[in-house]
Amino acid sequence: MEIFKLCLMGLLWFGANAIVVEDDKRALLDFMNNFPHSRSLNWDSNSSTVCNQWTGVTCSEDGSRVVALRLPGVGFHGDIPANTISRLSALQILSLRSNGISGTFPSDFYNLKNLSLLYLQFNQFSGELPLDFSVWKNLTIINLSNNKFKGSIPSSISNLTHLSALNLANNSLIGEIPDLGMQNLQVLDLSNNNLSGVVPKSLHKFPKSVFSGNNLSLIYSTDEVPIVMPTHKPNPPSKNGGKLNEKALLAIIVAISAVVFTGFAIFWIIYCLKKTNRDGISSKLEKGNMSPEKAISRTQDANNRLVFFEGCNYAFDLEDLLRASAEVLGKGTFGMSYKAILEDGTSVVVKRLKELSVGKREFEQQMGIVGSIKHENVVELRAYYYSKDEKLTVCEYYGEGSIAAMLHGKRGEDRVPLTWETRLRAAIGAARGIARIHTDSGGKLVHGNIKSSNIFLNSQNYGCVSDIGLSTIMSQIAAPIARAAGYRAPEITDTRKATQPSDVYSFGVLLLELLTGKSPVHTTSGDEVIHLVRWVHSVVREEWTGEVFDVELLKYPNIEEEMVEMLQIAMSCVARVADQRPKMVEVVKMVEGVRRTGFPESSTPPRPEALEMEASGV
Ligand SMILES: *[C@@H]1O[C@H](CO)[C@@H](O)[C@H](O)[C@H]1NC(C)=O
Ligand SMILES: *[C@@H]1O[C@H](CO)[C@@H](O)[C@H](O)[C@H]1NC(C)=O
Ligand SMILES: *[C@@H]1O[C@H](CO)[C@@H](O)[C@H](O)[C@H]1NC(C)=O
Ligand SMILES: *[C@@H]1O[C@H](CO)[C@@H](O)[C@H](O)[C@H]1NC(C)=O
Ligand SMILES: *[C@@H]1O[C@H](CO)[C@@H](O)[C@H](O)[C@H]1NC(C)=O
Ligand SMILES: *[C@@H]1O[C@H](CO)[C@@H](O)[C@H](O)[C@H]1NC(C)=O
Ligand SMILES: *[C@@H]1O[C@H](CO)[C@@H](O)[C@H](O)[C@H]1NC(C)=O
Ligand SMILES: *[C@@H]1O[C@H](CO)[C@@H](O)[C@H](O)[C@H]1NC(C)=O
Repeated sequence: MEIFKLCLMGLLWFGANAIVVEDDKRALLDFMNNFPHSRSLNWDSNSSTVCNQWTGVTCSEDGSRVVALRLPGVGFHGDIPANTISRLSALQILSLRSNGISGTFPSDFYNLKNLSLLYLQFNQFSGELPLDFSVWKNLTIINLSNNKFKGSIPSSISNLTHLSALNLANNSLIGEIPDLGMQNLQVLDLSNNNLSGVVPKSLHKFPKSVFSGNNLSLIYSTDEVPIVMPTHKPNPPSKNGGKLNEKALLAIIVAISAVVFTGFAIFWIIYCLKKTNRDGISSKLEKGNMSPEKAISRTQDANNRLVFFEGCNYAFDLEDLLRASAEVLGKGTFGMSYKAILEDGTSVVVKRLKELSVGKREFEQQMGIVGSIKHENVVELRAYYYSKDEKLTVCEYYGEGSIAAMLHGKRGEDRVPLTWETRLRAAIGAARGIARIHTDSGGKLVHGNIKSSNIFLNSQNYGCVSDIGLSTIMSQIAAPIARAAGYRAPEITDTRKATQPSDVYSFGVLLLELLTGKSPVHTTSGDEVIHLVRWVHSVVREEWTGEVFDVELLKYPNIEEEMVEMLQIAMSCVARVADQRPKMVEVVKMVEGVRRTGFPESSTPPRPEALEMEASGV
């Protein structure tokens, strides 16, 4: 399978494999080594490629300089070591938000003349704000909220003509607000400080809430609307006209920005994917165009439509997803899969679905059902995205790859044979996961696409099922892929009509695959097509049972009995007549019973990384 790196968006702008200038690399290492942090970073001093490999580091197009550093929630604490980050003189984006950084605003940041986006919110910075903001001519977003900054707001901020967002909320700033009448300023938040005096007239366009929690006199009249009114009024004035118009206007603006943003996002996904598929990674943005990064950040307040499920503590949005570095995982039954690495180092799998057979409402309904299944043996659906042209699902990523990759992947010297123990656990976990799917939501849900490439190993090395419930909402695949066909129960001619008994059949094929090490459909050296189920039947009928098993398993002592028992379970699952197959809950008991000493019951201990993320406030 071809594997190459791309980004869901930023790769077009930033090169992928180029070698970063040594000085920047050394500055980064000095920064990391001298700055205590609680989560480890994958910054390997020996690796020659820093760009797109070191967490949070992004390079310029030619790979010669570091232009973005994003390290939110890494658990940094103490003062930023002097003369480290400041040596990254080409830096444009710096995010150290949600850490425990203390000390004053680093004065050597004055060297970062190209700084454009600065995110330092949710830290413990104290002392005064830098006096001279005008050195950072390109600053467009400043977020210093939720710190302990003291002193007054420097009037030099008004020299930042590109500034579009300024957030200084939740600090201890005092004094009067300077006249920040910059044309481009669209977002402002000065709430919860200790500011006094009057609000300058140039800032009356902002809602009063952004000044709340201060000792300010808001002298503007009550009917002043913080948004410029349109020249025509589509709605006749009602009793509470002012309010209604404001709301309607806001809704329109939100809707328009959502549409614009969505369109833009889709354009970039498609552009990026097409480009990468066609000519690899060497594409460039035309000179003079706005960088995607900047364009996106300008629209960052627009609603995106990445829908998350409850209890999801992932700290990312569509914007983060699009600019994450990514690689192609492969082409699945329903479309391409990508691995995206987010700025905080978490990886997710993004699936791009083609050809749904249902409309938006049914899609959302199905996603709602699937997303509500929380089980340690079911790969959790984290989020989904639906628009006319693009349907995405976002799931957890499993670094070791699927059971299919482990069983049939590497050949030759690199090959790591799957132990019997691992295969047993994979089977038990997968069985528990499928049983949960079958019993959830009134016993109506069907997986429909069980195969070894959809089974992963969870943190306790038990099987974990992914790709749930997609088969029923996708269009019938015109020419079914041979491999998928090998798992299909004989009575199923249309994948959309999968049933729970057909899932049991597919699980039986999976067990046979684990026992024999053979693909469900494979060709012999004589070009003969072998169907695993038929082959096993023929061998077992002639009583060569021993020959069925994977030679890689023969070296383990005392497992023959367990293997034979597993084989019997598999054979009962692949019974020709659907009614004769056991129910999945029964299969779980049978598979668990293979090992006499037993396996621990299903339980859901908290994932360590989830706790860590919470603790660091990501
Ligand atoms: C880097 O390389 C040196 C020498 O080649 C080796 O001693 C060191 O352990 C390596 N460091 C890492 C983190 O791999
Ligand atoms: C700042 O960015 C511009 C282009 O955006 C580049 O030409 C210039 O070299 C950068 N400055 C530094 C110090 O890297
Ligand atoms: C700011 O941005 C402009 C255009 O992106 C670039 O030409 C310039 O070099 C940047 N840096 C400074 C310090 O103005
Ligand atoms: C804005 O910049 C100019 C030129 O650099 C400087 O003279 C002026 O004092 C600055 N204004 C503020 C309010 O700092
Ligand atoms: C700044 O950070 C706060 C707190 O995380 C967030 O609510 C706000 O949207 C951010 N503002 C900007 C302009 O990034
Ligand atoms: C400021 O703090 C309050 C209370 O903790 C919180 O509700 C508000 O969202 C914060 N504002 C920003 C911009 O983060
Ligand atoms: C706010 O400012 C007033 C007057 O400058 C001062 O007396 C008060 O202690 C300040 N409050 C806080 C919470 O800093
Ligand atoms: C608020 O400001 C007024 C005058 O600007 C001052 O008299 C008053 O003491 C201030 N209140 C607080 C709580 O700081």
